[in-house]
Amino acid sequence: MSVAIGAGVLTLSEPFRSWLIPPAVVGLDQKPDPDGRLLGHFPYAEVSESELVELEAGQRLHRDAAREWLAMQEAAYRDGVDLRLLSAFRSVDDQTSIFFDVKSERNQTARDRARVSAPPGYSEHSTGYAIDVGDANAPGADLSTGFEQTEGYDWLRAHAQRYHFALSFPRGNRQGVSYEPWHWRFEGTATALKVFEPAGRFALR
Ligand code: DAL
Ligand code: ZN
Repeated sequence: MSVAIGAGVLTLSEPFRSWLIPPAVVGLDQKPDPDGRLLGHFPYAEVSESELVELEAGQRLHRDAAREWLAMQEAAYRDGVDLRLLSAFRSVDDQTSIFFDVKSERNQTARDRARVSAPPGYSEHSTGYAIDVGDANAPGADLSTGFEQTEGYDWLRAHAQRYHFALSFPRGNRQGVSYEPWHWRFEGTATALKVFEPAGRFALR
């Protein structure tokens, strides 16, 4: 893409282009804020298929995140904590259904839906670096704030940094996304860190 500036023409490479002009979402009236966020969520490109590896139950993750997740899960197990991977990579198409179909089922506004679910093109799950984690000993707490009462959550709070996982949406986060004690993102490579650098500036940990 090219942008005319005065007499000259500036050609923008893809990372700058998507940063300056985040994708619009079909079906949403809202436009991204000047910082790129749409309804609180930052834009994320979908990871390429070649970077994904398959884990249990058909869940796929970026290979760098997968390696550390498996090491973390094993370490937790040795400490008597049985962490489960509830959700990993989600394509932009998957996120489209999760956002719009559930919005319709629940009769929600886009703004209400976005408090708990990212619009397509704006989910950390599409990067292959985000995981939703449960405690096998407390399945009733899966994907609920009750997860913070589990041993699994205590273990993650104490040890996740060693495996480069960080809580994406702490209570009271400045993105305005609901508290999600189960949702962690991998920041353990320069590439991953860069992907989450804008969100990291909003973090309250
Ligand atoms: N639940 C998080 C915000 C997502 O949909 O990516
Ligand atoms: Zn999640």
